[in-house]
Amino acid sequence: MINWYPGHMAKAKRLIRKNIKLIDIVYILIDSRMPKSSLINDFNDVIGNKKRIYIFTKYDMCDKKETDKWIEEYNKIGEVLKVDLKNNIGIDSIIDASRRQISANRKIRALVIGVPNVGKSTLINRLVSKKAVNVGNKAGITKGNQWVRGNEYVDLMDTPGLLWPDLIDEESAYNLASLSSIKEEVLPIDDVAIYIMRKIAKYYPGRLEERYDLNSIDFDNIEEIYDSIGRRRGALIKNNEVDYDKVSKIIISDLRDGYLGKVTFDIHE
Ligand code: G4P
Repeated sequence: MINWYPGHMAKAKRLIRKNIKLIDIVYILIDSRMPKSSLINDFNDVIGNKKRIYIFTKYDMCDKKETDKWIEEYNKIGEVLKVDLKNNIGIDSIIDASRRQISANRKIRALVIGVPNVGKSTLINRLVSKKAVNVGNKAGITKGNQWVRGNEYVDLMDTPGLLWPDLIDEESAYNLASLSSIKEEVLPIDDVAIYIMRKIAKYYPGRLEERYDLNSIDFDNIEEIYDSIGRRRGALIKNNEVDYDKVSKIIISDLRDGYLGKVTFDIHE
């Protein structure tokens, strides 16, 4: 159990605490590809009993069969929405759900929280008034705090600084490193790349072979796998040797960009 970003976390929590009175509802963003690992798990003491919506982002990229099992769990603790922010799918449902939960005769104030890369900025951009942007208002980020002027229904407070699940287990750490981002000093990229390959080989057999044109995969001979992928993909250094670092980066970005197919790395028991 590790907490990697204690400084950032403390600062983020302090800022949220300072602003929490102003907030009507919390949008808790969850990466659909890792519904357990990407949950910011220790915020109840800060957000208390505020209304909340669990927004499953990147639903378009997940293994729906697995993720839906998690959604069933989350449904027991709150309202869940599935979205594809990239393609603007589900934005209206966020507004609808917020207005259903909060009856105010002013704009609703929402706090957006989630791990890096989960889609916080994308969501905020989708909810920002187009008109305000067009008239050069630059979404009106108010000086001195994190408030962003949204559309006619909602204003938003962005996660202040870096939020990260606290004290997570090793598997969650690897999931986050695979699909979000994590300091390289904490988990070396080759460990992460190998973790990804093992996970894909176990739960999505055939995909690595297809993507990298491999006949078979033998994890007792990782070097051979790296060599094959490196040569296929032209990840070479001098003397025609394979650049292992580059191969690891290729595997990680292939996963994140969806070239290894739709995946869910948190397997529901
Ligand atoms: P953050 O603020 O929480 O760090 O995340 P951000 O919005 O920057 O999103 C990170 C990446 O995830 C972006 O891609 C964004 O387009 C993508 N993304 C966010 N939500 C969704 C979703 O629901 N579905 C899909 N398919 N992608 C999503 P990027 O590669 O950094 O930029 P770009 O490709 O959009 O230019």
